[in-house]
Amino acid sequence: MNTLQQIRFIWKPFIFLLCLVPATMVVTDVFGLTGSLGANPVEAILDRFGNWGLRFIMITLAITPLRRMTGWNWLSRYRRMIGLFTFFYIAMHFTTWFVLDRDMLLSEVVEDLTKRPFILVGFTALLILTALAITSFTAIRRRMGRRWQILHNAVYIVGILGVWHYWWQVKKDITEPLIYAAVLATLLGARIIWRLARRRKQRRAALQAQVQS
Ligand code: HEM
Repeated sequence: MNTLQQIRFIWKPFIFLLCLVPATMVVTDVFGLTGSLGANPVEAILDRFGNWGLRFIMITLAITPLRRMTGWNWLSRYRRMIGLFTFFYIAMHFTTWFVLDRDMLLSEVVEDLTKRPFILVGFTALLILTALAITSFTAIRRRMGRRWQILHNAVYIVGILGVWHYWWQVKKDITEPLIYAAVLATLLGARIIWRLARRRKQRRAALQAQVQS
């Protein structure tokens, strides 16, 4: 089996199943098979999907810097799958809120969106994520050309909105949102530094070409 076949038939299915573990644990906890959801099961499900959604955003954002730092180019082969899992967990978080918490009542949805600004922030992130998920397929990517990369850079905005949404609702202990904010700032910082270095290199190459000609 060559490397590409190993990725396709062994590693991709393995990582797919691994990404499904948190969702499976929610289902098994609902039935009391692996644990329990505590006194407020709806809130527990909502929080679990929200937390995993945020973790998946961070993992998605970490792939490119990690690939550049280590030279492990194979990492980019898992980016789309992990990005789609981010969408899956946030969509489940939203569905839990809409179906179990708000009883699918449009009046309650509108009330929450207008009276609880952190929900509006989360909702905006979900809308952007939906656009990224829809346009993640190869055929659409090819058709969009350069605009695809510009749109997909918005994943950083999703990260910022996600951390903001979490931070805004925390009442006392801000340790967890602070950790997410620090991770996000590091990933964004790495990207900015890499961009600046690349631009400087391009400028130097252009100058050298001018001198030689
Ligand atoms: C990128 C998008 C989103 C991320 C990353 C995210 C993440 C989170 C996180 C981490 C929590 C806190 C969990 C905890 O307390 O341990 C949370 C709570 C919550 N989220 Fe989101 N969320 C997102 C989008 C949304 C959307 C679209 C909605 C609904 C429209 C929503 C509604 C809520 C609600 C109602 C809570 C519970 C607040 C409470 O306990 O009082 N979120 N979210």
